[in-house]
Amino acid sequence: MLSEVLLVSAPGKVILHGEHAVVHGKVALAVALNLRTFLRLQPHSSGKVCLNLPNIGVKRAWDVARLQLQDTSFLEQGDATAPTAEQVERLKEVAGFPEDGANPEHLAVLAFLYLYLSICGKQRALPSLDIMVWSQLPTGAGLGSSAAYCVCVAAALLTACEEIPNPQKDGVSASRWTVEDLELINKWAFQGERVIHGNPSGVDNAVSTWGGVIRFQQGKISSLKRPPALKILLTNTKVPRSTKALVASVRSRLLKFPEIVTPLLASINAISLECERMLGEMAASPALEHYLVLEELIDMNQHHLNALGVGHALLDQLCQVTMAHGLHSKLTGAGGGGCGITLLRPDLEQPEVEATKQALTDCGFDCWETSIGAPGISVHSAASLDAPVRQALVGL
Ligand code: PMV
Repeated sequence: MLSEVLLVSAPGKVILHGEHAVVHGKVALAVALNLRTFLRLQPHSSGKVCLNLPNIGVKRAWDVARLQLQDTSFLEQGDATAPTAEQVERLKEVAGFPEDGANPEHLAVLAFLYLYLSICGKQRALPSLDIMVWSQLPTGAGLGSSAAYCVCVAAALLTACEEIPNPQKDGVSASRWTVEDLELINKWAFQGERVIHGNPSGVDNAVSTWGGVIRFQQGKISSLKRPPALKILLTNTKVPRSTKALVASVRSRLLKFPEIVTPLLASINAISLECERMLGEMAASPALEHYLVLEELIDMNQHHLNALGVGHALLDQLCQVTMAHGLHSKLTGAGGGGCGITLLRPDLEQPEVEATKQALTDCGFDCWETSIGAPGISVHSAASLDAPVRQALVGL
């Protein structure tokens, strides 16, 4: 067992292009967002395992000896296999939750217990640990916060139990695992996501594990080589939306007007492919012309998404406000509210960016200046973390 404190972080995600079209077999590009979830794992010998999730008000502790007495043989399948509905029900009993308890707080605890009992259950004795997870990501905004959580928990537990080595090197601020270790982290994180979401596509945990840009089509996930880090404004209109209802509405529009909607989906696919090609060219030598093409692609896709019926008056407002500052935006994720992204060209002066952020905030939106194409799950030295992160993770 690992004896020292472990600090890891994993990014959230946004969909650059291909939302909705991906449901109909087209290509989507998802990118890691430089808003991250941080986890601090402290091994000790108190006989307790404690989980602290301040963002969602969860603080739970279990007696390791009592957990050890529980019959958790239902989890002993040796590898990262899909959790069954029966296993999740049994976990609810172990957690002491009512059978119908499926709120976000309960689901986060269940995913943790699933990963802790499955990964650490291979040890002779379950380890005593304090785990604190703190996130810069808003929850339930389509930014992959649950995936970033599962990736952090899986990476930290696998490392604590020495299933994978700690890649942290002396004097290095952030280190990453090998491809094989990342594959194992991703596999376990996907199981955690399944506990939370039932039947997720796996794209969110893949982006959070690998970082950069991920191409996703019909369940096939691949990483783009050497993606450029692009700066964006990420804006949350705070309009609640249901991904399920929006996906269903696109499907019924496709059934009603196949000759109109099929070409729209094909065009969105072509936008994703053109964007992928641009990002590939930018890796070699990024030029302003590339950004101008990316802006045109953003505009065209935003109009297509409106034509699919997943726009919203406040997303239109977001696009108009940024356009008044010469910037191009589109919705990201399911639409119908939720978040939008605005590309920041490298030639922009900071006062112009600030003025745009202020204008968006004045509309009542939350707005973050951040980058996309960020690194995936990483392990950090305590000294390398920013003061607010250190403070949030307590006492560092
Ligand atoms: O807002 P999110 O992250 O749930 O994005 C949904 C993306 C869709 O393409 C609309 C649905 C899907 O399952 O891919």
